[in-house]
Amino acid sequence: MKQQILTLAIESSCDETSAAVVRNGREVLSNIISSQIDVHKVFGGVVPEIASRHHLDNINQVVDQALLESGMTLDDMDMIGVTYGPGLVGALLIGLSTAKAFSLAKGIPLVGVHHLQGHISANYIEHPDLEPPFLALIVSGGHTSLVDVSGYNEMKVIGGTRDDAAGEAFDKVARVLGLGYPGGPLIDRLAKEGNKDAVPFKRVYLEKGSRDFSFSGTKTGVLNYINSEKQAGREINKADVAASFQQAVMEVIVGKAVEAARDLGRDKIVLAGGVAANSCLREMLTEACHEQGLKLYCPSLLLCTDNAAMIGCAAYYRYQEGLVDDLTLDAVPGLPLGSV
Ligand code: KG4
Ligand code: ZN
Repeated sequence: MKQQILTLAIESSCDETSAAVVRNGREVLSNIISSQIDVHKVFGGVVPEIASRHHLDNINQVVDQALLESGMTLDDMDMIGVTYGPGLVGALLIGLSTAKAFSLAKGIPLVGVHHLQGHISANYIEHPDLEPPFLALIVSGGHTSLVDVSGYNEMKVIGGTRDDAAGEAFDKVARVLGLGYPGGPLIDRLAKEGNKDAVPFKRVYLEKGSRDFSFSGTKTGVLNYINSEKQAGREINKADVAASFQQAVMEVIVGKAVEAARDLGRDKIVLAGGVAANSCLREMLTEACHEQGLKLYCPSLLLCTDNAAMIGCAAYYRYQEGLVDDLTLDAVPGLPLGSV
């Protein structure tokens, strides 16, 4: 029996080209992330075609760097883990084709990973004691989901957004406030100087008992507020708007997550995704979990946003259960999490 399993992992689903080397699922030997944020900033959002081209330009260098930093070579790798969905199809295809080429050339298994299973797995890297079952709260630029995780590869989505994802709503509100892109971290920073009770934006809970989310009403509320203040000739306090909007969104997310964990009898909540970096969300969730006797797990800021180490971790646990793919694996832009 081999002492160690080394995984070369690749992530390219959106605007980060990343490669990592991970030992036995949880030990990160390298995690190289080449971000395209500066490239897309001028457009106010990710431009898919430009993202694909940049992935193509960067992928080989990023993989070389990941191997170099890990002190390993491609010959040492036991398997290749790669994100195959959801995400931008052109962007996904760059990472997937690269992974397939390595798999074929070296004769090692290819393991396709759902991007969100990767985000959840960031927590296994961060917390050596963490094991399923738990409730995962995934908040990212493309998703806001509550996932009941009963095993490393067994999970059920029990709630999701019906319109905008949380990160998407943050990015749009930041744009109308003229803050720039990506908006999440900018709103987070500005909100620290504002009053969270200044403007009572709508908290949308949907039907009684619903575990779904909807943020477009709150977002529209912000747009309407800004327009009406402008029309009345009043100066907008951007920090107050940022703080009030953030509070309205996070109150709903935290409330629903804690309620779902309680209903399902889960004693742990695992936070994941880019918006997991939000300081207000972390504080509110910490407090709510403390009050309810739930244990909270959060990834470090580096592991919150897209990176290949989390994909390597998820791939390892798939490989352990024999969930290996072949070269027919295709990119699936709308891959549902239930299908993992
Ligand atoms: O998970 P991620 O890197 O990409 C997706 O898979 O979507 O998430 C990116 C999202 C962006 O919408 C960004 O604005 C948001 O995460 N984000 C934040 C913060 N940091 C990143 N949102 C709120 N507060 C933050 N501190
Ligand atoms: Zn992501």
